[in-house]
Amino acid sequence: YVIGVDLGTSAVKILLVNQNGEVTKEVSKEYALIQEKSGYSEQKPDDWVDQTIAGLTDLLKDFNGDNHQIEGISFSGQMHGLVLLDDNNEPLRNAILWNDTRTTAECEDIYNRVGEARLLELTKNPALEGFTLPKILWVKKHEPDTFSKAKTFVLPKDYVRLKLTGKLHMDYSDAAGTLLLNVAEQKWSKEICDLFDLGAEFCPPLVGSHERVGTLLSELAERTGLSADTLVFAGGADNACGAIGAGILEEGKTLASIGTSGVILSYEASEDKDFKGTVHYFNHGAPDAYYTMGVTLSAGHSLSWFKNVFAKEEDFYDLLAGIDSVNPGANGLLFTPYLVGERTPHVDSTIRGSFIGMDSSHERKDFVRAVIEGITFSLNESVEIFRDHGKTIDTVVSIGGGAKNETWLQIQADVFNAKIVKLSSEQGPGMGAAMLAAFGCGWFETLTDCADAFLKVEKEYLPNAEHVQTYKELFQLYQNVYKQTKELNQ
Ligand code: XUL
Repeated sequence: YVIGVDLGTSAVKILLVNQNGEVTKEVSKEYALIQEKSGYSEQKPDDWVDQTIAGLTDLLKDFNGDNHQIEGISFSGQMHGLVLLDDNNEPLRNAILWNDTRTTAECEDIYNRVGEARLLELTKNPALEGFTLPKILWVKKHEPDTFSKAKTFVLPKDYVRLKLTGKLHMDYSDAAGTLLLNVAEQKWSKEICDLFDLGAEFCPPLVGSHERVGTLLSELAERTGLSADTLVFAGGADNACGAIGAGILEEGKTLASIGTSGVILSYEASEDKDFKGTVHYFNHGAPDAYYTMGVTLSAGHSLSWFKNVFAKEEDFYDLLAGIDSVNPGANGLLFTPYLVGERTPHVDSTIRGSFIGMDSSHERKDFVRAVIEGITFSLNESVEIFRDHGKTIDTVVSIGGGAKNETWLQIQADVFNAKIVKLSSEQGPGMGAAMLAAFGCGWFETLTDCADAFLKVEKEYLPNAEHVQTYKELFQLYQNVYKQTKELNQ
């Protein structure tokens, strides 16, 4: 067996996976999001650790075998979150998460000091509020006392792994989202670190996602029921692990992943394609590979928001139950999912969402369908950017919350005008983490061999020509809403 730990934004999901790639047990433990002000989003790093330990303990509770059979463990994690550490590797403050948008001024500062073109050359990405360097600069400016005690920083899953092993590392796929990594050369950018006075010690040692970083601390092995010989592998960013867990391991493969955020992601064999910063360009979790990706900040988050406000007592299954009886276009109701601003394509932390076209005949199911369609339109903006840059997108593997509902899968096929593939296990990032452990343990020669053995297609959804046309027209309208509502949100 191997274990895949997926440290998400709302919960940690832990999978026990056997040698055939079957998930034999799954545990999930939630933790709180701290949102003190609009645009702020934080979590307590030790909540992640406590819940991961509690989850592993539950996972092992009725494991009827020798715990030495669990050979390896690896991690997937929410990206970009800043965990500042003191001399004892203890966090100095709450983590500032990927969906926190307080750092607009720091992004400007980065452009002014590094230069937009040079930043793109070194990091392959623009300065976005969600990335880590702007958060580091925010703490430096607004909490200088705290910052003066900072020895180093890590990202969320690195902190959990540090507490489980006592070893400090960061992997390339997650480091790529900090704006401090020279993505093409796979090393920290001395030029950027120097410009912001971040000493050589400040950035942690880098490793590949499949690399072994140690074993579990014996005290923790004992508490969780795992063997102290269990090998620990670095793991990767949740989107990189989602890509691995969906078999996005060669050129031409595309992923739609809908969790709290939503992404459209495409494999890149080399680092030298020019998307001019319109999409993110990060190191893959597969050795020496890359991926490009567009991000919708509030994807599943839009649906959770709607449920919390209007249907708190229901579960998602009931909430979505009626949407197949609503025609494409939600009877004239259109939703834009900009609840916390937007990344791709607008890079706009101030824009906010909207329902347009409300009519007294509308029922709740029209609103739910409109929310689902709005999230999917937002992801389609990224699909269109890829196509505009010459990529062929005719097949998309869909994972996460968006792959749990048949109607939503069909909506993805119709909006993207592409075949949608649903895998029999849509565990995405957690499965990717487990695959990194399986590969690291030497079960397979390559990650692709592992994907061939572990991943199976459950069903395919083909675009319906009439619906494709309807959505094409609505997409124009959708794109107009941004332009028309932008002024209202400044
Ligand atoms: C990617 C991003 C999100 C998080 C979600 O750039 O910010 O997808 O990784 O966990």
